[in-house]
Amino acid sequence: MCGIVGYIGNRRVVPIVLEGLKRLEYRGYDSAGIVYLEDGKLRKHRCQGKLANLEELMDSVLTESRIGLGHTRWATHGAPSEANAHPHSDCSGDLVLVHNGIIENYQTLRKRLIASGHTFTSETDTEVMAHLIEEYLDGDLVAAVRRAVQDVEGSYALGVMWSGQPDRLVAVRNQSPLVLGVKNSSGCFMASDIPALLPYTRNVIFLDDNELAILKADSWQVLSIGDGRQIDKKVQRIEWNAGMAEKAGFRHFMLKEIFEQPQAILNTFRGRIEPESGIVQLPEIELSLEELQGISRISLVACGTSWHAALVAKYWLEKWVGIPVEVDIASEFRYRRLLLGPDVMVVPISQSGETADTLAGLRLAKQLGAKVVSICNVVGSTITRESHGTIYTHAGPEIGVASTKAFTSQLTALFLLTLYLGQVRQTISADKSRELGHALIALPEVVEKQLPLLQEAMSVIADEFSRSRDFLYLGRGANFPIALEGALKLKEISYIHAEGYAAGELKHGPIALIDRDMPVLALAPKNDVYAKLISNVEEVKARQGRMILVGSESDESLHDISDYVITLPDIHEELCPILYTIPLQLLSYQIANLRGCDVDQPRNLAKSVTVE
Ligand code: AGP
Repeated sequence: MCGIVGYIGNRRVVPIVLEGLKRLEYRGYDSAGIVYLEDGKLRKHRCQGKLANLEELMDSVLTESRIGLGHTRWATHGAPSEANAHPHSDCSGDLVLVHNGIIENYQTLRKRLIASGHTFTSETDTEVMAHLIEEYLDGDLVAAVRRAVQDVEGSYALGVMWSGQPDRLVAVRNQSPLVLGVKNSSGCFMASDIPALLPYTRNVIFLDDNELAILKADSWQVLSIGDGRQIDKKVQRIEWNAGMAEKAGFRHFMLKEIFEQPQAILNTFRGRIEPESGIVQLPEIELSLEELQGISRISLVACGTSWHAALVAKYWLEKWVGIPVEVDIASEFRYRRLLLGPDVMVVPISQSGETADTLAGLRLAKQLGAKVVSICNVVGSTITRESHGTIYTHAGPEIGVASTKAFTSQLTALFLLTLYLGQVRQTISADKSRELGHALIALPEVVEKQLPLLQEAMSVIADEFSRSRDFLYLGRGANFPIALEGALKLKEISYIHAEGYAAGELKHGPIALIDRDMPVLALAPKNDVYAKLISNVEEVKARQGRMILVGSESDESLHDISDYVITLPDIHEELCPILYTIPLQLLSYQIANLRGCDVDQPRNLAKSVTVE
């Protein structure tokens, strides 16, 4: 939702904070601000709009300050404005903080604080926290913060500074991500996500919920907020280099990440599948053999693109493992009556590992005794630390708001899970393991070869249809969720209204939409529902619809029934959902570019939705 950066050490703080915010801008970008301590006073600068506005403002500010905080915002309470931008201050202006999350009882607290004489200058929930700490401040910032958060309900990652104790920053974490960067020689850092730390250190500490960190120029300490006892935290080393979080010469993060998919798919299965036999090992699943064999049902829970991955996995798991699979949108899952127990494996799927609804679903599933195995792309994120094991997708940092490599990596991980469970429960034969395993191992090279060809082929389609107002995507079977994914990609970065539909549903309503202005894209790999899909395509053509068909390079008939044809190599049917996603990603990217949209930071969106 928002990006937080803090630093204290022997280097000038402003460049460090601004660079860090730039690397976190994907988390929210409607306003930004910075605060630093100079001559005993806190100096605050804030701007509405993108981070570039703050950078421009700071160009004329020269300071040698070595301690400060910064924030890039995605508004939840209070419209994007300078007054609502973080950092926020108490009445005195001697205490400031930045916040990511939502203070759910902020109205009650605000009334109480106003009644006791506090004056507010913003509409935000965050400002309440500054005045609440001020209320309890009596010479000790840590004690005041620990006391203040006891009055708060909701989620928060906080960075706090007080000119009364200029030798420290305080970091607090509850249900919103916060990671520390430690490097003895040049100080301590805090940030909402790893990319902000990478130019300075790869030694990180993930704060857990209800933990507070005290950062000083040459030391750090983590306490439990509840009883104040010191907690020994493990320093983890991040192998991502700073370059991985850069664009590596591509125009946008999204395009870079589309082209990183062969490596992301490879990195996700590398070391988990035996090349010859196709036998899969997933030791990260902390469940015994009998627990795995005792699973009677699987429940997949996710949001957005991750939910589409779950929909594909249902086809794989039910076909190859032979147990019922439920798929839920997390925001629905958490509010319906759940029939879960120790015989159910719940699989939260999340790129960020911080999506509030998915995390809430995870916690409910655990309360009901289910076994939780998550699929996630961010090491140490909240979802991973609350699961009974995590199958990490090794896609590397995904910065573009529109998920691409994380999605195909999620599908790879779910395919591995299918093979693993099928092998453990002996529903997949040795021959079939070999066949499916070899198909997966061959996939990265196929994707690698297709990417430049598809980039060219999709630019022709994009030129033709970038001015369309509506789009319909059709698919059947395990490719129906890919139609949903293609539609989501297009709508979220080009702002064209796009819908994905099960092709068999066309006659039940959507066919009324078909005319020359409504382009229809259908996924038509050779499989057992191919003939049915083609008859749906004929229905579109009979109504002057303009067809785009994505199908097999060996299928000569496609050109007879479609205005535009995109062909892909014949690969194993089971893996078509992964390969057929690629052209749809490139189509949405190219149309968004032609429309002059902000591909990496689409309007109204944020990379990680850490609030409900
Ligand atoms: C995907 O392109 C979207 N940005 C969005 O739907 C995303 O998939 C969803 O918010 C879930 O995020 P997560 O995978 O980090 O949980």
